[in-house]
Amino acid sequence: MVVGSGGREHALVETLAASHIAPEMFAAPGNPGISRIAQTVDIPADDLIALRDFAKENSIDLTVVGPEVPLIGGIAECFWEEDLRIFGPSRAAARIEGSKVFAKELMKHAGVPTADFEAFDREGAALAYLRTRRDYPVVVKADGIAAGKGVIIARSREEAEDAVREVFSGKFGAAGERVLIEECLEGREASVFVMTDGVNILPFLPAQDYKRIGDGDEGPNTGGMGAYSPLMWMEPATYAAILEEIIRPTLHQMRLIGAPYSGLLYAGVMVTETGPKALEFNCRFGDPETQVILPRLESDLLELMLAVNDENLYGREVEWLAEKAVCVVLASEGYPETSHSGDEIGGLENIPVGVYIYHAATDERDGKFYTDGGRVLNVVGTGPTVIEARARAYAAVEQIHFAGMQYRTDIALEAIELEDI
Ligand SMILES: Nc1ncnc2c1ncn2[C@@H]1O[C@H](COP(=O)(O)OP(=O)(O)O)[C@@H](O)[C@H]1O
Ligand SMILES: [Mg+2]
Repeated sequence: MVVGSGGREHALVETLAASHIAPEMFAAPGNPGISRIAQTVDIPADDLIALRDFAKENSIDLTVVGPEVPLIGGIAECFWEEDLRIFGPSRAAARIEGSKVFAKELMKHAGVPTADFEAFDREGAALAYLRTRRDYPVVVKADGIAAGKGVIIARSREEAEDAVREVFSGKFGAAGERVLIEECLEGREASVFVMTDGVNILPFLPAQDYKRIGDGDEGPNTGGMGAYSPLMWMEPATYAAILEEIIRPTLHQMRLIGAPYSGLLYAGVMVTETGPKALEFNCRFGDPETQVILPRLESDLLELMLAVNDENLYGREVEWLAEKAVCVVLASEGYPETSHSGDEIGGLENIPVGVYIYHAATDERDGKFYTDGGRVLNVVGTGPTVIEARARAYAAVEQIHFAGMQYRTDIALEAIELEDI
């Protein structure tokens, strides 16, 4: 059973269903795209008890959690109490995403390269600190999860003060009880994924995502407007340094504090002039990065997840196809400030080979699909080169239409320039 309802979960369901184990698949709550390959169950992703009861009653052999909220809420412990298998970290380990202050302190103790920081639990103390600080910009972050809206890059002291006041204003709820003030790093950003049983790691390849709504990284932040993988700009030595200097010491430190991390660990990394530095950790697969990673996976994902559960990753390897993948997100009118539901989606028939369509926010009525939220569809093109993968993705995008459809036209453009062909 896969928990969640977005494009990431659609990609997970599709990849797990293709396992040679030939599993019977369920998804809670799933979406209309997922319902083609799995039996969807009407339980929201954050109803931990109902999910556990369903898993128990239906003898679900493995539950895979897509979003962070149930993990941070303790779904893993909830399942373990009933001896049910689940892929995802414990609540204690999921704090690595649930509290940015926790993650930064963990990194500090583990010697992981990351931006210098100060943490405050009172507005007055944070403002007093800003008055002593000379160099700007600084990055101001709410401690908890704030749907991508809790990070402000402040160019001046005034902007930083406003950001601190915003964090403590109550608009982020419990996520705004503490604030982080960080050094602003410069460089190129990447999302790095590893699968881990707490000790051993299987590198799950890096990807690049695009957070801003507009071409050229203009406009407000979103949940993600596109992605591509692999990253030809990242040197193998840099990738090795990320695994050795960021991932391994972090997992070691988690064991030391009695919160071993198992599942999928996602590190947001800035590759700076002085080497890679960790920006943050997430406790689950990235969205939309998963949509460009899973189509490239040759190994059996279900087998690997079962091996994580048996703490048996030692000596395993993960195989990748030579394919490249590019994902373009189609968003509804008004996104990200608002979103528009109920617009009929056309052009989903006859999707060419090498293209995957993942549903992210759709509704199905009488055999027709409609928009049902901000990020509606993920269109993934694959091919032997980024040029081909990208051309396939955008050709499929041209074929799909709904009122107010928005998408970026520059996804993976930078990668083409770097491609050796
Ligand atoms: N110290 C930093 N220096 C420069 N940019 C940063 C820094 N921290 C975060 N950012 C930028 O802000 C974005 C969001 O921050 P992140 O810590 O990933 O929080 P979240 O994903 O929870 O919103 C990052 O993807 C990065 O672009
Ligand atoms: Mg992030």
